[in-house]
Amino acid sequence: MTALLQVRNLTKRYFGLTAVDDVSFDVEAGAIVGLIGPNGSGKSTSIDCISGFQPADGGRWSLAGVDLTALAPHRIARAGLTRSFQTVRAYDELTLLENLQVAAQENDGIGWLPSLLHGAKVRAAEAAAEARARDLLATVGLADYADAPAAILSYGQRKLLAIAASIMSRPRLVVLDEPVAGVNPTMVRRIEAVIRKLNEEGATLVIVEHNVDFIMSLCRRVIVLDQGAKIADGPPSLIRSDPRVLAAYLGKAGAEEAAHG
Ligand SMILES: Nc1ncnc2c1ncn2[C@@H]1O[C@H](COP(=O)(O)OP(=O)(O)OP(=O)(O)O)[C@@H](O)[C@H]1O
Ligand SMILES: [Mg+2]
Repeated sequence: MTALLQVRNLTKRYFGLTAVDDVSFDVEAGAIVGLIGPNGSGKSTSIDCISGFQPADGGRWSLAGVDLTALAPHRIARAGLTRSFQTVRAYDELTLLENLQVAAQENDGIGWLPSLLHGAKVRAAEAAAEARARDLLATVGLADYADAPAAILSYGQRKLLAIAASIMSRPRLVVLDEPVAGVNPTMVRRIEAVIRKLNEEGATLVIVEHNVDFIMSLCRRVIVLDQGAKIADGPPSLIRSDPRVLAAYLGKAGAEEAAHG
């Protein structure tokens, strides 16, 4: 069986720097896969390329057999792959409900012309989007704020809104870039529960995170990047003791110390 997401030889260079270096991996349908690595190891750049927000210099990738290479972000989203951003983006002056409706529209790529031509169809789509948005706000515990401006949200609540926005269009695969960075432990547990629920409802997830405990508890498979290259790919138990991973995180001396107690 072919994997839901197949990434082959992804490469991205910035000037002299190879930010992503010939990275290949698969994500099976139904999985929650962790993507970890030190700062600057190429995690966000990999996502940026796969989701169409940065042009890659090499490689191919596909979702459910559909080639996504070189498609624009909204086309990739329509094909079923969406993402959240490391730096939370919300429209502060819009309500939470409106923020999610905008997210749906961005991912569906609906412009103003079809809105004029197919008024009734678009109104039906808008009603469906509102129902979906209210549903998701309830899932992430923000239902009470549906009609409040996003400006009033705390940092952790913004992270939850970002997760809801990334799954508005019912993607087959969603990539979350640091969903719990800078979030307090109570909110981390809530976000973990939300991710599990989404997964149970059928979403496949790739999660980029520095919170290793969070990743190890959620994911049965973890991919590790270092200096743009994939250095490990396997279950948490193997990743934790992999000498290359320890060296990447702790430096060589630290890894030897950890290995020999
Ligand atoms: N727009 C850009 N222009 C030039 N260099 C960039 C750009 N974006 C990223 N880089 C470089 O590419 C490398 C990988 O960066 P990236 O943001 O992908 O790392 P990351 O693994 O997401 O790190 P972090 O954990 O800190 O978010 C870094 O050396 C970074 O400086
Ligand atoms: Mg990053």
